[in-house]
Amino acid sequence: MEKIIYRNRKNTNSYKWDKISAKYKDGELIAAWVADMDFATAKCVRESMKKISDFGAFGYAYAGDDYYNNFIKWEKTHFNHEIKREWIRFSTGVVAAINWVVQAFTSEGDAIIIQTPVYHQFAESVTSNNRKLVCNELVNKNGNYSIDMADFESKIVDNNVKLFILCSPHNPVGRVWKKEELSAMMYVCKKYNVLVISDEIHHDFVYGENKHIPTMNITNYNNLIMMTSSTKTFNLAALENSIIIIKDKALRDKYDSKTANIHESSGNIMGYVAAAAAFGYGNEWLEQVKNIIYSNYLYMKKTLTKKYPKLVISPLEGTYLAWADFGAYLKPTQISDFFENKCGIIFNYGESFGKNSKTFVRINLATSKKNIKEICDRISKKL
Ligand SMILES: Cc1ncc(COP(=O)(O)O)c(C=O)c1O
Repeated sequence: MEKIIYRNRKNTNSYKWDKISAKYKDGELIAAWVADMDFATAKCVRESMKKISDFGAFGYAYAGDDYYNNFIKWEKTHFNHEIKREWIRFSTGVVAAINWVVQAFTSEGDAIIIQTPVYHQFAESVTSNNRKLVCNELVNKNGNYSIDMADFESKIVDNNVKLFILCSPHNPVGRVWKKEELSAMMYVCKKYNVLVISDEIHHDFVYGENKHIPTMNITNYNNLIMMTSSTKTFNLAALENSIIIIKDKALRDKYDSKTANIHESSGNIMGYVAAAAAFGYGNEWLEQVKNIIYSNYLYMKKTLTKKYPKLVISPLEGTYLAWADFGAYLKPTQISDFFENKCGIIFNYGESFGKNSKTFVRINLATSKKNIKEICDRISKKL
């Protein structure tokens, strides 16, 4: 079985480890914020990149057949999702593509709905493009999240919403949406002709009985753009290779004509080669990484809730990000100071995901057990 290699990424220009390390002494900081992993990617990916690197000639190139074929096979095998090659488009990132869609398919002042708390770049893509942000707040019952469908529909109607940015599975609350939930949302979007972006970048991280259902698979509503990538799954974010899937020909044509002047229709050779290898041969590596992540989650939940029974850590149905409410122990104003200055730990703070999450933190579990233990120890000593 392939060994999962933990990497100490300090001093490697890692955004997560090095961007905000200046105020810490050597070895003091534990970075558990940005959603990437501290594991070396799968051996098959490293070897495919090495081959290209050794070849050394990096003239203009395009995605090979294996890139498309392996991705299509992956989606079919893992999600029973039939994708045709001509539906696939390239983007340097899901966030970039979300912004392209916001700019291409909506106008200034148009309303866009998101489900807070949610990945902060969703709100950013709305407000930075001068669109109107509409939030359908998820319902939190002791860490278990669900959708307020009545609120979702009335906000769409009242604000004449043009676009819905769905996060499936959901970062940061860890939900893997069920068929009924996805169907209900798509039913409403269809009723009011709301364009849907289905951001499924976390779809490979689903645990236990939970099953990821591609939004496209549960609806005949084709006003829908799916986004995903190998980068979250295989720790390849710096290679900037994301995949956009548009089934509907008219929507695809519109997307193509609107994005043509960005001149970003293809990526770099390393990204293509890495993604092709990952989707083709990376499954065994992924299964092991998922085991590590889930075991980190169980360890953290058990250790911290034993000592702090009023701490609420949401069920981890999907993603590799734990969502924890420290509200019983820390005031909103204490959160960042406590973790950053007293514990030397960086998490993402709840308030960046939505206004009602000020006592929450998002904890990145894709690291070594040693780091997870150290995080728990430091919290336990200081809280
Ligand atoms: C829901 C979601 N979408 C998109 C991204 C970023 O995607 P990309 O690096 O392809 O822009 C992230 C990263 O954390 C994410 O959680």
